[in-house]
Amino acid sequence: MFDLNLPPWLICSLLYVALVIAFGIFWPYIFQCQLIYSSWYPPGSRTKIAKPSDFGINYTEEVLTTKDGIKLRCYVITLDDIIEAKQAATILYFHAGTGNMGDRLPLVKVFNQKLGANVVMLSYRGYGFSEGKADEKGLRLDSQTLLDFVKEHDILQHTNLVAFGHALGGAVAIDLVSRNNSDFAGLILENTFLSIPKVISNIAPWLSYLTLLWHQKWPSETSIQNIINLPVLFISGAKDELVPIAHMKKLYQLCGSRQDRCWVEFATGSHNDTCLVPGYFDAIDDFVKGKILISQHWVHGGFMLDLLQVERLDSSSSSLQDTSDLYHRLLQHGPVEEQQLALEQLYDDETLYLTD
Ligand SMILES: *[C@@H]1O[C@H](CO)[C@@H](O)[C@H](O)[C@H]1NC(C)=O
Ligand SMILES: *[C@@H]1O[C@H](CO)[C@@H](O)[C@H](O)[C@H]1NC(C)=O
Ligand SMILES: *[C@@H]1O[C@H](CO)[C@@H](O)[C@H](O)[C@H]1NC(C)=O
Repeated sequence: MFDLNLPPWLICSLLYVALVIAFGIFWPYIFQCQLIYSSWYPPGSRTKIAKPSDFGINYTEEVLTTKDGIKLRCYVITLDDIIEAKQAATILYFHAGTGNMGDRLPLVKVFNQKLGANVVMLSYRGYGFSEGKADEKGLRLDSQTLLDFVKEHDILQHTNLVAFGHALGGAVAIDLVSRNNSDFAGLILENTFLSIPKVISNIAPWLSYLTLLWHQKWPSETSIQNIINLPVLFISGAKDELVPIAHMKKLYQLCGSRQDRCWVEFATGSHNDTCLVPGYFDAIDDFVKGKILISQHWVHGGFMLDLLQVERLDSSSSSLQDTSDLYHRLLQHGPVEEQQLALEQLYDDETLYLTD
């Protein structure tokens, strides 16, 4: 017969085994935020944050307050010349899961000083000197806070906004643009993933049976389908050791923007050093100048002012009628937001034009 009077040492051992198994199952549940949001790595990331001025970049630092009351640190880097700044693209830079925003300043310097873009960037909650603790819900509020700030900013509100995200930042960027599609003129993604559960099952297949326990999801594969009529650049390092390139390829396929998807692959690029491969910045420059600023140029810089010049030469008398004809000609060419911009720009320039 079965004896239920187990000796105490056996009960203790069984309890111990049960505890170990329970811990094995639940540790991903408990510790996943520390793994995914590694703001503690490299050591010192929460105490030493590089400043743009360390790299010879002019900037202002802002403290933004999120809807749930968390204070975030943010760098705002505009071109020195205000007119040029208003005509440039503005990159909203969303950094990857380690370190803080200061670590990315060498890249941002190239974006700003070589490619001529304005850049805004933040340390997410729980990163750098920003308050709070990182999680998916919180980071979504953080990205929204940055966008709302840019849309109110004196100079930046006039510019074409491009979200840029690397790895975890890619998930943040996809999520933000999918919710606020019409605020953006473009999206750039580098070595990002389909979702957290999918990338975990790639890194640690033995954990994949536990994917239900991963409460941090970042479902980019779903969100990206909502991104439409927007140029999207996919920058993929074929040697990415963390996120298999298949993730980027699948995101490219799923992207709701069909005509304007661009794929650039760097054979020797790995997860976080693709930016060092020659051709990286050219790819971004070509994309921004070729796909994003082209319509901007049309409104602010070349085409419209050219039209004004022609009009000025053609007609001996300038009148409001001319201006309104001109505006109607512009209307026939541009998308709605650009028409509005064209109108505003026209009146600014017209004060000069009509009075001389
Ligand atoms: C920074 O601002 C100063 C003063 O306005 C200016 O002289 C300098 O050229 C700027 N530096 C850069 C790199 O834009
Ligand atoms: C941007 O997304 C937020 C959050 O989903 C939403 O409340 C807001 O209305 C969106 N703004 C626009 C312009 O779509
Ligand atoms: C770059 O990626 C490697 C491998 O994925 C990782 O071990 C390393 O910590 C990363 N470096 C930084 C600075 O994030």
